Amino acid sequence: MNSFIPVCEPFLNGNEKKYVEECLNTGWISSSGKYVTEFEQKFAEYCNVKYGIAVCNGTVALHLALVALGITKEDEVIIPSFTMSASAFSICYTGAKPVFVDADPHTWNIDISKIEEKITPRTKAIMPVHIFGNPCNMNKIQKIAQKHNLFIVEDAAEAHGAEYQNKKVGSFSSVAAFSFFANKNLTTGEGGMVVTDDKELYDKCRYFKNMCFPINAPRIYEHEDIGFNYRMSNLHAAIGLAQVEKADEYKTNRIKNHQLYRKLLKDVEGIIFQTDEKDVINVCWMNAILLEPNKYGKTKDELIQHLKENNIETRLLFTGMHRQKSLEKFGCDMIGEYPITDNLTQNGFYLPSASSLSEEQITKISNLIKDFAK
Ligand SMILES: Cc1ncc(COP(=O)(O)O)c(C=O)c1O
Repeated sequence: MNSFIPVCEPFLNGNEKKYVEECLNTGWISSSGKYVTEFEQKFAEYCNVKYGIAVCNGTVALHLALVALGITKEDEVIIPSFTMSASAFSICYTGAKPVFVDADPHTWNIDISKIEEKITPRTKAIMPVHIFGNPCNMNKIQKIAQKHNLFIVEDAAEAHGAEYQNKKVGSFSSVAAFSFFANKNLTTGEGGMVVTDDKELYDKCRYFKNMCFPINAPRIYEHEDIGFNYRMSNLHAAIGLAQVEKADEYKTNRIKNHQLYRKLLKDVEGIIFQTDEKDVINVCWMNAILLEPNKYGKTKDELIQHLKENNIETRLLFTGMHRQKSLEKFGCDMIGEYPITDNLTQNGFYLPSASSLSEEQITKISNLIKDFAK
């Protein structure tokens, strides 16, 4: 068997079709409709928070969260340099400056010991990113935030259902954001969600998400503020609801797959996996590996090519925020060394990671990696 194994693909094995068909049959295909509310409620419940605000992707979920907190162009927000560009761009949309902190060499999350040196009088918030589903040490981050009177905005785009000290991610900050892009553990195709326990922030998110139409009031076409159309459609929410119904199944699959990769590759020299933070459930969104070429005996590019020749798709890891021309043009401070991030970019990549991967597929991929060493 040599069929193509994609780096990721959605797993839609529940009520998705049934719910979407209902939208089509009833004509409720836009952003009004029962699935949006149901999805918001069920996902918020899943995260153990009071409120969910469904939006059209994870990037705008982050932006909406920052807008609700009142972040503006006078402010700075601290983010990891090793993240997806959406973390930084969402801050730029408010006019505020993203400020970078290198990754921890083991967990690949933000290096918490380096956060305080980046705090200035303009810092308003920290945006920890639970990289690849591995929850950050929220205890330490909360302590720094309290000491310096900063907001926390969790970028939980990759970490649906992940836990830190028996508490779900998304519940450690005033407001947090998730993505439901097709490769995520839970997907709506394109989609996102802001979650919060704070009624005021909830109302602000609803207000700004929908063009700043007055909420809980008759529709009038007068707007006191500039709003956004960040609404999620009922069709997307229908898929989302079906996915939340299966959230624990997908989480278990992802974790199980990751453990199998680790087990099969544990004796291969020069292959490093992310180290979990303490007291966490890492939901293993993607199976990223970091190569030490001198130990493995081949470079990352050679291994990627070898897998490609065997019909196995891989994907590069993020390029650091300190290397983004876009952010330099925006006026971010690009000076400084980010060696851990650079190493991850240069020597890391994702192995196939879909929730639907079979044991046979993971074994095949692992054997190819093992046999190619040295
Ligand atoms: C860490 C992180 N933040 C934000 C996003 C943005 O989500 P979306 O692609 O839904 O806009 C992603 C998407 O992959 C992500 O990985």
